[in-house]
Amino acid sequence: MSQPASLPAIPTLVPPPEEFAAQANVSGIAAYNEMYQRAAADPANFWGDLAATELDWFKRFDKPLVWEPPFAKWFEGGKLNVSYNCVDRHVKTHQRNKAAIIFEGEPGDQRVITYHELQRLVCRFASSLLHLGLKTGDRAIIYMPMIPEAAIAMLGCARLGIPHSVVFGGFSAEALKARIQDLEAKVVITADGGWRRAKEVKLKEAVDEAVKSCPTIEHVVVYKRTGSTVHMQEGRDHWWHVLDETAIEDVAPVELDSEHPLYVLYTSGTTGKPKGILHTSGGYLLQATMTMKWVFDLKESDTYWCTADVGWVTGHSYVVYGPLSAGATTVMYEGAPDTPAFDRWWRLVDKYGVSIFYTSPTAIRALIRQGDQWPAKHKLSSIRLLGSVGEPINPAAWAWFHRVIGHNRCPIVDTWWQTETGAILIAPMPGAVGLKPGSGTFPMPGISPQIVDNNGNPVEDGKEGFLILRTPWPSMLRTIWGDPERYKEQYWSKVPGAYFTGDAARKDKDGYYWVLGRVDDVMNVSGHRLSTMEIESALVKHHAVAEAAVVGKPHEITGQAVCCFVTLKKGVADHEKLGGELRQWVAHEIGPFARPEEIRFTEALPKTRSGKIMRRLLREIVTSHTVAGDVTTLEDMNVLTSLSAAHDED
Ligand code: PRX
Repeated sequence: MSQPASLPAIPTLVPPPEEFAAQANVSGIAAYNEMYQRAAADPANFWGDLAATELDWFKRFDKPLVWEPPFAKWFEGGKLNVSYNCVDRHVKTHQRNKAAIIFEGEPGDQRVITYHELQRLVCRFASSLLHLGLKTGDRAIIYMPMIPEAAIAMLGCARLGIPHSVVFGGFSAEALKARIQDLEAKVVITADGGWRRAKEVKLKEAVDEAVKSCPTIEHVVVYKRTGSTVHMQEGRDHWWHVLDETAIEDVAPVELDSEHPLYVLYTSGTTGKPKGILHTSGGYLLQATMTMKWVFDLKESDTYWCTADVGWVTGHSYVVYGPLSAGATTVMYEGAPDTPAFDRWWRLVDKYGVSIFYTSPTAIRALIRQGDQWPAKHKLSSIRLLGSVGEPINPAAWAWFHRVIGHNRCPIVDTWWQTETGAILIAPMPGAVGLKPGSGTFPMPGISPQIVDNNGNPVEDGKEGFLILRTPWPSMLRTIWGDPERYKEQYWSKVPGAYFTGDAARKDKDGYYWVLGRVDDVMNVSGHRLSTMEIESALVKHHAVAEAAVVGKPHEITGQAVCCFVTLKKGVADHEKLGGELRQWVAHEIGPFARPEEIRFTEALPKTRSGKIMRRLLREIVTSHTVAGDVTTLEDMNVLTSLSAAHDED
């Protein structure tokens, strides 16, 4: 997206505004440096001291860290409960009647839930789970719209020590099934449906389809959101409100080990099978809480809104667990930003007085395209801090966000992290650090990233390399659910002894980090991770497809778009119809958000002599329309000619 000539130049360095710095939780670069250095000198005790003061424990831990690489245990011997920390402890203070959740549904319905009310609702839901016979250690799947009950379900599970896996409502029945099976879940918590662009997303229908082949499922709890007719299977399916009729409000939080599994979140990796990223309790909650204070500069009086869905890690750490543990007021909105019009978000900002607003570059670019007249209709004067997550933010989008939404007064925190890291690892502390548009700036205290070459040696400043971490941090993933070998292999083998992020980055002469994007077969579409292999596996399951190779193609709004090269089985013709059918097929297998932008049919795919598909060449074709890289291992040069020619005909 190029910058029209009439706009002011994009700044290269934006110091913290004086007024902001004066009130900030961490004010001035010296304060950041002092904290960073203190943490670097003794990370385990740095985190240990914070854990002791920032979280409430039933039993104090014995040791901050037990590190048997690559397996970490944080706050061993400690007992706590995440739902107690997110809810009950605030009820004991003057925050008792503070809004915990401000909710607006897409049709316009509103709810404000105080901490005290949230405690009642969480206990009642936990009581329903107990009534169904669920116990600590059983697993739950949550497949819900963006409504308070999604958070209540998460916290209800956490209260009882039932690890949950939230599955984004945009995933299909097939994807849901795979996750239920991998987790061997006993219960699915869902709704009849949810509202999105004035249409109903039929969640219960997808659950019915999925659980047909999930023998571990004993119960399905259904929240009535849309009121549409759903099939309820006697004995298995229960209405949330019916269970609630006999629920009690005095359900004690279970005293759990610090390392008790809190949740598993499935994410795409470099194979066709999603990985169940395991997060545990004490360490995860501590880092989610601290980053709320450091990066979002959270104050008692803030109204904080992160637009992510609870189905993604951002929704876990920065809609539910982080904000609630820190005692914030967190806003949840059910629907799409363009319903009924493109100013829905700005309308919500003014209506609820949102002061911290956290979203994704894709959303920003989509809103830029609609024009400045939408935000111009609203004051937006309550906003004091903006945030961005999920993908690199291009400087033009940064500048628009800063000028049109932040009215040139609000810092923007560009936060780099991953499902696996659990919490933000690289981001500015906005009252301390000058911003460079497109850079996540500096690491959080206790985090020591490095940028290395293929052999694991640090590269010079200014040079691009792989982003790695050599030391453990409290909110790091503990393993891949049920597959510790894959955990070791995927994250800790590329650079021996270090966690491999899968991202390329560079550090500039001022020490600022610039994360450039993935170096593996993971695409980033609208800030969501999609694996090329996962889409390829879906495509080759289709009866007409012989082979498929998928690559990410640059896209003006979504960052990358899914582009598929497909060869068909002998005798299959009618490409025209098949293109649409295959796009729909992928949506059916994975979910509508994974629907490919483009299907290109080809006679053959470029392969090495040993038969490996050379995706690198395909990436070059979709990015630069030519192949300049090394092709010496390519088996058949003619394939390349025909692939390039296929593009020329587009
Ligand atoms: O490539 C990085 C990109 O998103 C990946 C993590 O994706 P996921 O696990 O789905 O989590 C997204 C939300 C935390 C990273 O490996 N990424 C995330 N944030 C940024 C980013 N790239 C550049 N800048 C960011 N701020």
